[in-house]
Amino acid sequence: MMRLRFFWLVLLLSVLVGGTACDGEVETAVSTPTSAPETSSTPAYLDPSLPPAARAEDLLARLTLAEKIGQMTLVEKNSIVDADITELGIGALLSGGGGAPRVNNPAEWLEMVNGYQSFALETRLAIPLLYGVDAVHGHNNVVGAVLFPHNIGLGATRNADLVRQIGQVTALETAATGIYWNYAPAVSIPQDIRWGRTYEGYSENTALVTELSAAYLAGLQGDDLTAVSTIIGTPKHFVGDGGTVWGSSRTNNYEIDQGDTPLDEATLRAVHLPPYVAAIEAGARSIMVSYSSWNGTKMHEQQYLITDVLKGELGFSGFVVSDWAAIDQVDDNYYEAVVSAINAGIDMNMVPYEYELFIQALTAAVENGDVPQARIDDAVRRILTVKFELGLFERPLPDDTLLPTVGSAEHRALARQAVRESLVLLHHDSATLPLDPETAVIFVAGEAADDIGLQAGGWSIEWQGGSGKITPGTTILDGIESAISANTQLHYNRFGNFERITDDNGNPTMADVGVVVVGERPYAEGQGDSDALFLSEADLNAIQRLREHSNKLVIVLLSGRPLIITELLPVADAIVAAWLPGTEGAGVADVLFGSYEFSGTLAYTWPRHMDQLPFDFANLPTDGCAAPLFPFGYGLTTSQSTPPLPDC
Ligand code: GLC
Repeated sequence: MMRLRFFWLVLLLSVLVGGTACDGEVETAVSTPTSAPETSSTPAYLDPSLPPAARAEDLLARLTLAEKIGQMTLVEKNSIVDADITELGIGALLSGGGGAPRVNNPAEWLEMVNGYQSFALETRLAIPLLYGVDAVHGHNNVVGAVLFPHNIGLGATRNADLVRQIGQVTALETAATGIYWNYAPAVSIPQDIRWGRTYEGYSENTALVTELSAAYLAGLQGDDLTAVSTIIGTPKHFVGDGGTVWGSSRTNNYEIDQGDTPLDEATLRAVHLPPYVAAIEAGARSIMVSYSSWNGTKMHEQQYLITDVLKGELGFSGFVVSDWAAIDQVDDNYYEAVVSAINAGIDMNMVPYEYELFIQALTAAVENGDVPQARIDDAVRRILTVKFELGLFERPLPDDTLLPTVGSAEHRALARQAVRESLVLLHHDSATLPLDPETAVIFVAGEAADDIGLQAGGWSIEWQGGSGKITPGTTILDGIESAISANTQLHYNRFGNFERITDDNGNPTMADVGVVVVGERPYAEGQGDSDALFLSEADLNAIQRLREHSNKLVIVLLSGRPLIITELLPVADAIVAAWLPGTEGAGVADVLFGSYEFSGTLAYTWPRHMDQLPFDFANLPTDGCAAPLFPFGYGLTTSQSTPPLPDC
């Protein structure tokens, strides 16, 4: 604590001297004060009794151009030279997907973030860093944190209050590690499920996305942003990221991610803008711009949409952040790209690697008059205002008080509830569900039945996710083992091989019930773009083998979007969509064994075959073979059987 007090004394002296020294030149920073007159020895910006806007104005007036541009620079922590945080006045850092400290646990995360913060507090005016992460389904980079179902599952719950609580818990676990900025919620409205980011969207339906994303943001931000347990969210990716068309992407080998959204303005506004209107009303303080394009122009240079619409017409007073190195895509000439993007209204550049190039380019652009000083001041004013609103200046180095809440039993119970409510019963025949805990013989198959990584999906510990025991939690098999009685004979084989299970006469045993867990392997962003939404050969083999050894067959699907399962309907007695449930897989067994009824309903239309994609939602057939397999809003309970389906 001594260090902190000494540091404030030094800061006070440096400010009172009135000198601003940077790059050797000394400018008189307070010769023309534009902020509130200093009534005491404490500079206005350090006075927490003043409104954030007044404190920001006072501080802005004290900054040199270099310090201002430093505030507009957001760097990946794996790229930063620690001393540059101080030398260049870097205003923000992030952990990109998987950006963990060397040892990945909550305490090490707090230590890492506070370590970077201490370099920022060594700058002339000691402006604290804003540190950001993608905590998109819980604090998902951190081993030991609770991972909630991805948004596609939360959409199926249609439970806004549950989603708000998930926001609250996510804020708590993220703030526990000293991080107060979350690049979530994605308010994408995916219109084509071949997109690898479908699961990051709550739904294909604008109203449902609007309701749930606003609830999540309210949970994250609470009623008091200065509280140690609240953080700011970042509705993303502005605007129309979910409306891109297949084959329009120019990034990597992506097909649809970061592609083009060819819509007239009225349709863009009707389908993709409402969540931003609601988010601004719910108090959004940062918004992230999309990699995608609108009618062929990159969103990152769309001055009309960013400045005129978002900041002007909608009155967004927070700051606009770019996506990861997205400004680089605006123009082959980096200088021109920076000029276009900053003039379009981007306030902070997520420049993960070459941050000095950005600083040099923007400095030159201002000196050349290509970027007006007023644009810089507007950007920095917005950024500083949010930092003051968060109370960062009053508590730049949080203590470890909240660490015990990370991964707590209470948080896991909430996640387990979310898993239960996210499940959608797609197909159900002859009273198969709920399963009886006293069932005599149960066979379980599928690699994904006993794999936290596969049930968590992308954005889990690593950017692309992983398989195996990537973090603590319960698998679906764990849940089944806990749900059955001591009399039940349970056998698990990931491949579905049960020949060796025989009765007293040496005949292969038939299970009363077989449960097979199949689906997609983890992916994130464009790496998940696919026009082949089918189960793997291994999964189909496991299903077939288990079918041969079970009287009743239940298929549990783990996926980031609907998959083509039409041919499985005659094979299975029940099919459950479990999406990407996160760490609390036991929630699946809670419903399979009847402790809770199915309540989830589809937030995405389910295709009968690939040729139906992308859906023309305005003209969707409601019956016959041209209709989807299951419509938006569909979901059975165990007292229902699958309605008669057309023979296509
Ligand atoms: C990624 C994503 C964005 C994320 C950012 C930081 O590329 O597009 O959603 O917030 O980079 O990880």
